[in-house]
Amino acid sequence: MSDPVDVTVDTDDESESVRIHDDGGEVEAGDATVRFSFSSTSDDGQAADGNDEQSPDGNDDGEDPCRIAELDSVPTDSTLVFEARNGRRGVNCILHRSGDAVAAWRNSCPHQPEVPLDPGRGAIVRGDQLVCHKHGAQFEPDDGVCTHGPCAGDALDSIEVSVRDGDVYLTDERFERAERR
Ligand code: FES
Repeated sequence: MSDPVDVTVDTDDESESVRIHDDGGEVEAGDATVRFSFSSTSDDGQAADGNDEQSPDGNDDGEDPCRIAELDSVPTDSTLVFEARNGRRGVNCILHRSGDAVAAWRNSCPHQPEVPLDPGRGAIVRGDQLVCHKHGAQFEPDDGVCTHGPCAGDALDSIEVSVRDGDVYLTDERFERAERR
């Protein structure tokens, strides 16, 4: 499969989204687990799977696969999108910097989880708060708690990252590597 596919499963009280890069995967939401697979052939008729390409972001060059970005390149007035990957499973995430502190969250608004805080052009930051572009929920830049808006009191889903030697690394044990688009 050449292009990733976003899959969202909605249950009565939960919505879970994953990005699938490979030929299959699964999504868990509430008590439900949805598994699926894709079969495809390349233009020359050969099976497209089983032939992993080099990582497009150069992670096969000996660099730590969990490195996300240089600290200085993480915006304070917006967000940087990356993907936390574990095998076939990918979670779209955002990174934000306040001074020398960085925080990362799943790129999903607690009010409507299918809505990304960063739709691709960077999330809105007003004052020091992240703002959802859809209904204006505001989130603290450190713990991701919503201070105002339709999901006040809820929090963004935190992803663990840390800074080492001027670079930001994904350190969340749920994932094995980070990718930038
Ligand atoms: S979807 Fe984010 S505030 Fe409604």
